[in-house]
Amino acid sequence: MADVFELRINDDNHVMSSAELAQALAWADVVCPTVTDSLTGALLSAPTVNAKLLANFGVGFNHIDMAAASRAGIAVTNTPGVLTDATAEIALTLMLSSARRAGEGERLVRSGQWDGWHPTHMLSTQVTGKTLGIVGMGRIGLAFAKQAHHGLGMNIMYSSRVTRSEQALEGLPAKHCALDELLATSDFVSLHCPATPQTRHLINSQTLSKMKPTAHLINTARGDVINEEDLIAALRQGVIAGAGLDVYAAEPKLSEGLADLPNVVLLPHMGSGTTQTRVAMGECALANIRAFAEDRPLPNQVS
Ligand code: DGY
Repeated sequence: MADVFELRINDDNHVMSSAELAQALAWADVVCPTVTDSLTGALLSAPTVNAKLLANFGVGFNHIDMAAASRAGIAVTNTPGVLTDATAEIALTLMLSSARRAGEGERLVRSGQWDGWHPTHMLSTQVTGKTLGIVGMGRIGLAFAKQAHHGLGMNIMYSSRVTRSEQALEGLPAKHCALDELLATSDFVSLHCPATPQTRHLINSQTLSKMKPTAHLINTARGDVINEEDLIAALRQGVIAGAGLDVYAAEPKLSEGLADLPNVVLLPHMGSGTTQTRVAMGECALANIRAFAEDRPLPNQVS
């Protein structure tokens, strides 16, 4: 890109302040934000904005005020498809780790407190053959459902705005149902919906109370979809058995009390974090930037 654009890079990956983001938007024609860059309406509607393209490095774009971008005539692109399998793998990792108490077991061994094998030591929940409920059957939801069904013989239910055709489900036997039925029936509930005003706090004390007390909740989507205070209370009180989280409402900060719970597995937003996938995401973002530079249609325009 250095042959086409003059570049400024956030070399040390610090979380950019509003002032720094405002400067970037004023200086550059193209800004390549990540999930940590909160591009608010105020920033995007400032009279100093010069940027014409936000080539987001990631598929989710809830950190960008899309209405303000569109009002300012700024196009937004993302990197869909290339992170599907990697993110599904992290959902699978969290489901297995939460059910089989892998986090607790690892902490026990490292602490030097493990006193050896015995018949009732660290009993946990078997996953094979159980029911997985997918909330939001997009690319990642489907990839995870396929891994769970083909790899672990799990039954799949899903709630989604639309019923997927057999072709869209790639032959996967999956039952479409209302969220309430999914919550009441699933042994594992995995969130794959985008963060929108409609999905904000979709998982709260009310919806959590509809889940089985033996169930586990998995989130690789966005932190905002869960009311974390309600989840912490539910995990404390045994309303559900466990949770596995890769995303949080105020990353990288955790809600008070979350890290103290033994029955939650916590990962640092690493769903797309394989070398292969991050390179592919970069190439995808570059394809969008090149198209912009050459005045061609943007391959992954989301607005
Ligand atoms: C994505 O691509 O949405 C990942 O969560 C990183 O932002």
